Amino acid sequence: MDILAHAVRLSPHMVAASRGELNPIEINQNNTSTISINQTYLKLIKPIFKKSCFDCHSNNVQYPWYYKIPIITDIIDSDIRKAKSHLDFSFDFPFKGHGNSVNDLNSIMDTIKNKTMPPNDYLFMHRDKKLRLKDKKIIYNWINNSLKLLTHNGAAN
Ligand code: HEC
Repeated sequence: MDILAHAVRLSPHMVAASRGELNPIEINQNNTSTISINQTYLKLIKPIFKKSCFDCHSNNVQYPWYYKIPIITDIIDSDIRKAKSHLDFSFDFPFKGHGNSVNDLNSIMDTIKNKTMPPNDYLFMHRDKKLRLKDKKIIYNWINNSLKLLTHNGAAN
């Protein structure tokens, strides 16, 4: 038995975390916070993201008619590749991409507040994909609550 685990009755995961072998977000992947964040995501947020974000940040792209124009095909393909490498919503929460969940949530908040996502040139072609104020409030609420769960419960959960 690991002496540290024995002394403070920590799970092997916690011991690994205390040694810096795991980061707290990784431990969080299947805990109750993550599961409850995903439940809210599925109910309230996914329908909004499906409308406004999935065309680039998922495997579930609805290609527009002008996708068939050869140069446009390349531009859109490259946009989707780039968008998904940052953030991929295809498999629900926690999202895939290069960040951890806390960073992902913060950067989603930033891009929506700064109106950089969805991109303007895209909105120009798809006015109906614009986030409504009502949607933004629901997203901000979900992000704030999720960040509280992830950072307060952190590794202890
Ligand atoms: C038309 C395609 C498109 C749509 C629609 C779109 N995005 Fe993006 N998104 C991108 C691209 C491309 C990038 C990468 C930008 C870069 O590399 O500079 C990106 C980057 C991001 C990032 C930055 C990730 C990071 O690592 O910093 C966030 C956050 C983000 N998008 C959120 C969203 C959200 C939320 C929506 C929906 C409300 C959305 N995006 C809709 C194309 C899109």
